[in-house]
Amino acid sequence: MTGKTVSFLSLAATAALAATFALASGAAAQTAPASGEDILVLYYSDSGNTKAVAEYIHSRVGGDIAQIVADPPYPQDRTQKTELAKTEQSEHASHGFSASVQDLSKYRTIIIGYPIWWGDMPMPVYGFLEANDFSGKTVAPFCTSGGSGLGETVTKLQSSLSGAKVLDGLGVRAADAANSGEAALKWLGDSGIAVRDAG
Ligand SMILES: Cc1cc2nc3c(=O)[nH]c(=O)nc-3n(C[C@H](O)[C@H](O)[C@H](O)COP(=O)(O)O)c2cc1C
Repeated sequence: MTGKTVSFLSLAATAALAATFALASGAAAQTAPASGEDILVLYYSDSGNTKAVAEYIHSRVGGDIAQIVADPPYPQDRTQKTELAKTEQSEHASHGFSASVQDLSKYRTIIIGYPIWWGDMPMPVYGFLEANDFSGKTVAPFCTSGGSGLGETVTKLQSSLSGAKVLDGLGVRAADAANSGEAALKWLGDSGIAVRDAG
């Protein structure tokens, strides 16, 4: 494992230990009416950073929230996990998944969040994308990462999701995951997604 790998993994571990997702202070809600009914916040999260951001976004846009889970789970051992993930990414080998949403037909906007693994999306996310019909939907992607950011993932999403409109993405550093509310609200506003007052 490279020094860079160790450093982003330790950043990740630090951020994952953050117990709560703190609301950014002073972030103003947009005044447009919430239109949450047809929004799905969908995420994959291994160590909790992406989950924290997804749950915050869901609290502000409404609609439904669902999780993609690796099935079988990745090894708990960090070295084994990162090596397996690396092999899968390089071979674009599928990894099984389950998801807490089966039918996307009622959603017009899907906000999808994922951690960056080796510069890319984890393979269970690709599995979900390939198994579902996103045509006609607007897809707003966000990631958490140790620092490398969205990379080519937005372009890859657009190629994977024929017929969908993929918007510009939001990249959140793992170390900032618990405190990214203000950036998330700005991104949602720029994406034309209405947010409601914090309640
Ligand atoms: C297998 C693996 C590969 C990773 N690869 C990268 C990477 O290429 N670039 C990066 O900045 N962070 C990388 N990270 C760090 C994660 O993207 C980061 O910790 C993220 O916030 C984890 O999200 P989660 O807690 O929702 O799982 C990697 C983490 C793992 C476990």
